[in-house]
Amino acid sequence: MNAGEIEKAVAVLRRGGLVAFPTETVYGLGADAGNPAAVNKLYATKGRPADHPVIVHLADIAQLKRWTRDITPIARKLAERFWPGPLTMILRRAPGVSDAITGGQDTVGIRIPSHPLAHTLLDKFGGGIAAPSANRFGRVSATLAEHVRREFGDAVDFVFNDGACEVGIESTIVDATGSALVLLRPGHVTALDIENATGIAIVAPTVHSPRASGTLAAHYAPATPLLVMEGDLLLELAATLTRQGQRVAVLARSALQPLHHGLTWLAAPLEAHAYAHDLYANLRVLDAAGCGALLVEQLPQTPAWAAVNDRLGRAAAGSRPPSTPPLC
Ligand code: TXA
Ligand code: MG
Repeated sequence: MNAGEIEKAVAVLRRGGLVAFPTETVYGLGADAGNPAAVNKLYATKGRPADHPVIVHLADIAQLKRWTRDITPIARKLAERFWPGPLTMILRRAPGVSDAITGGQDTVGIRIPSHPLAHTLLDKFGGGIAAPSANRFGRVSATLAEHVRREFGDAVDFVFNDGACEVGIESTIVDATGSALVLLRPGHVTALDIENATGIAIVAPTVHSPRASGTLAAHYAPATPLLVMEGDLLLELAATLTRQGQRVAVLARSALQPLHHGLTWLAAPLEAHAYAHDLYANLRVLDAAGCGALLVEQLPQTPAWAAVNDRLGRAAAGSRPPSTPPLC
């Protein structure tokens, strides 16, 4: 890690600019969380609607009191067990935390990341950094610095390059404002991890739970229409579409690519963590292949795959199936 780069990035943040930095989950697009003008610039650059709150990243637990109030004993337990790390907690916001951060809600999302570079940046900056994932709104998150640069170009003042993010998908989000813990977004830290750590069963969101924009039905989407389907059906559809002269991209855990002309086949890792690590980079590669459809092989419906299945489900939600005119 380069001390000069950290200093430069801190200066950018202090003057209200935008800094993209790696975390253990995905790259974040950061702005000074205490500067509403900087946060507005962040929203504008990302193309994010103003009522979608952003996560405030902190260096350590000592900074919580500037941003939150009424932290419950369970929330404290979660903080001790999972921070620093890939968990975001929704907590009551302290007076003075701007609506620009919270989307006008009475809560604030907080995360203390474990990535060494993110930690050093936060520590030297000394305040909260508001950082959504470094992608345009609704699109696939960035897990490499080059994804950020390609997506934003000069609109971001400073981009750190520290290679691929370890986890590869966004943090687990838990609403910890009440006596029950509510899972708003699954991630690397699983519901079972949380239950084991707290002894409290984690519950699904209700209509009264805080809104989380990343939980919109359609999100994390490539531009190419994406379909998740079981292996045999996928092979059949790929054969039909390529026979019709369409180009098709496939993400499957099998390396055995059938020999159809017009097929771009990417073999994904077999294991869930490795699959998540590569997921967004793989979707970006296939999205750039210029195909009419992106077919993803369905994954096991087990807790180990819950977070990846969640992201793929949302990536597919905005897509319409590719047109398959009847064969004469
Ligand atoms: O892993 C991550 O969480 C990454 C890295 C950069 O930390 N960040 C990230 O941010 O995924 P973003 O903005 O793409 O997703 C944050 C999610 C959104 O769905 C947002 O609605 C939700 O967190 N969120 C933030 N504050 C909230 C609040 N006060 N109440 C409910 N949801 C909140
Ligand atoms: Mg995001």
